[in-house]
Amino acid sequence: MRVKPMDTTTGRREFLKFLAGSPLLATLGLPLSLRGQYLENAEIGEKLITQVDEALNVFDFERLAKERLPPAHWGYLASGVEDNATLRANRDAFKNYHLRPRRLVDVSSIDMGRTLFGVRWDSPIFLCPVASQKAYHPEGEVAVARAAKSRGHLQVLSTGTTSPLEDVNAARGMPVWFQLYTQGWEITRSFIRRAEDAGCPVLVLTVDQLRPQQNSETQFRYIREDTRSCVQCHDPDDRLKNKRMFDNVNLEARESDRDQLTWDVIGKLRELTRMKIVLKGIVTREDAQLCLKYGVDGIIVSNHGGRAQESGWATLDSLPEVVEAVDGRIPVMVDSGFRRGTDIFKALALGATAVGIGRPYLWGLAAFGQEGVERVLELLRLELELAMMSSGARTLDEISPRSLGKQ
Ligand code: GLV
Repeated sequence: MRVKPMDTTTGRREFLKFLAGSPLLATLGLPLSLRGQYLENAEIGEKLITQVDEALNVFDFERLAKERLPPAHWGYLASGVEDNATLRANRDAFKNYHLRPRRLVDVSSIDMGRTLFGVRWDSPIFLCPVASQKAYHPEGEVAVARAAKSRGHLQVLSTGTTSPLEDVNAARGMPVWFQLYTQGWEITRSFIRRAEDAGCPVLVLTVDQLRPQQNSETQFRYIREDTRSCVQCHDPDDRLKNKRMFDNVNLEARESDRDQLTWDVIGKLRELTRMKIVLKGIVTREDAQLCLKYGVDGIIVSNHGGRAQESGWATLDSLPEVVEAVDGRIPVMVDSGFRRGTDIFKALALGATAVGIGRPYLWGLAAFGQEGVERVLELLRLELELAMMSSGARTLDEISPRSLGKQ
């Protein structure tokens, strides 16, 4: 068969049409030497990493964690509540600010040190309390503690820990902060005694999740996808299975009392402990003022990574009014949605004393255990360092509201 010769005009038109809809066009403005690289990077970005040092940012761990975890465990970690609007708001809020670069400052030496309750940390990044870490890796909280030790970060351990508190402290090489969910006064008292005996210096009372079970629709959908029989890790009839804080406690005494707590809980805790008391889950100026009135030692501005209330309000946007109300009298930490050094920088510029991460270190844990957590911490530190350098900030105190602009 004779092939019809191509009409060159139509041919060129077709070719230009193809180019217009093609990512190829985007590379044409690049110098020749970079064109290959651009395409290659776009392709590699889609691929799962196979080794810890291939990760370029924390999202590389997220993709791998999703691949590696059973759907129910992934769903637990990924879920917000209801439409996940708060979860998304946390991320979207970072886009409302930009960094204001400063030039010709000697930033050859960057100090990210921060002192909290008399202890100096090399970095303002801390590890938030997250329950059930053995759902992500067999070494769970102990692997995280080893990473926190090797990279010098503060770790806060959840009441829902699947590793004994004492083992975590041993792996961390120093006592961690202990996060408390009250369980009725008898058990709460025994948790506090155990944390004190283990030397924990700070008690972090979480005040934003009013019931143990939330309306975590994403999680429930993933659970339906999970065809494994996984009563080993989460038996619906025994929700405390593998939760090591509940070993040797009188479970008969357990009460679901989170929704009954009022501000007098601070005084009651004070009678029981000399640990510093930090409230996690404060997002308004009114509650920040009450924290001061009741003598709380520190605040974590948090919406629980969008896992508590579907407020639709990002913690980055709640932070300024809490910072203003507190006016430097106690530390104001923040968490929920931090994934980049620039995110951390923005919160520090708005007055946060320190910034907590949750899901990113669990992605690292799920992907590569201790090494994955270490790499997540390194990446975030590196990114924060770069943000500080290009903003002319050599210390955390040199980061200020003037370091940011509003989009
Ligand atoms: C518990 O604190 C949770 O976020 O699931």
